[in-house]
Amino acid sequence: MLLHGFPLDRTIWRPQINALSGSYQIVTPDLRGHGKSKPMEGPYTMDLLAEDVNRLLDSLRLDQVTLGGLSMGGYVVLAFYRKFPQRVRALILVDTRAEADDPEARARREHQALSVLKNGSRELVDQLIVKMFTEKTFRDQPKLVDETRKMMESTSPAGIAGALRGMALRPDSTAMLASIKVPTLILVGSNDSITTVADAQKMAQRIPGSELVVVPEAAHLTTLERPHEVNTALRRFLNKVHTGQTFTP
Ligand code: MLT
Repeated sequence: MLLHGFPLDRTIWRPQINALSGSYQIVTPDLRGHGKSKPMEGPYTMDLLAEDVNRLLDSLRLDQVTLGGLSMGGYVVLAFYRKFPQRVRALILVDTRAEADDPEARARREHQALSVLKNGSRELVDQLIVKMFTEKTFRDQPKLVDETRKMMESTSPAGIAGALRGMALRPDSTAMLASIKVPTLILVGSNDSITTVADAQKMAQRIPGSELVVVPEAAHLTTLERPHEVNTALRRFLNKVHTGQTFTP
């Protein structure tokens, strides 16, 4: 099961579904307030989103999954592992971090939430889209950039505000990393300025036996920007998980 980031939707995993669904059952939900899921009243705390995922697993009758998430999706993955570790077979953390927001980041999110609710999301989308891809991708793949911008613009103001306020409330997960007992793959774009290589390295140092892959020439949305490299890393990791070759502490 793969969880998207903010303010995106399940289609950020389309290249992974195309490449891997012949070998694995892949579930990519729209988190509440995003994509085709309804914008409900926020804040969408990471715990609440983790409970949504838990209910979805129940309804799909899946006892255990490999759970992956990109950015906000990664925050939900860590919340899920904290609440329901027995349901997790392995973890995939993509362009994400364990730290909570500092007071400045929390204030910025509240300011953004109020502005989006009052004036719409255009300004925020303008600020975010430049961080999603490298300059090269802006030059060479204008269609991909345009589609991603549209994906963000189609997230409702209520959904955006709910997620911003939920992310601002998330606790620091650093201390729990050392207690992760399942195989873990960490991926990060070499040029990611939202969740940096240093953030990924800190997680890798703390999660026992974890594997870190830095995806070259990629910014924040690595799944769409560098699908081949991401798919290769996922395939190798999933193969190891399913053949029992990963180190489990
Ligand atoms: C995301 O990509 O999910 C968000 O940018 C993460 C964040 O704002 O912390």
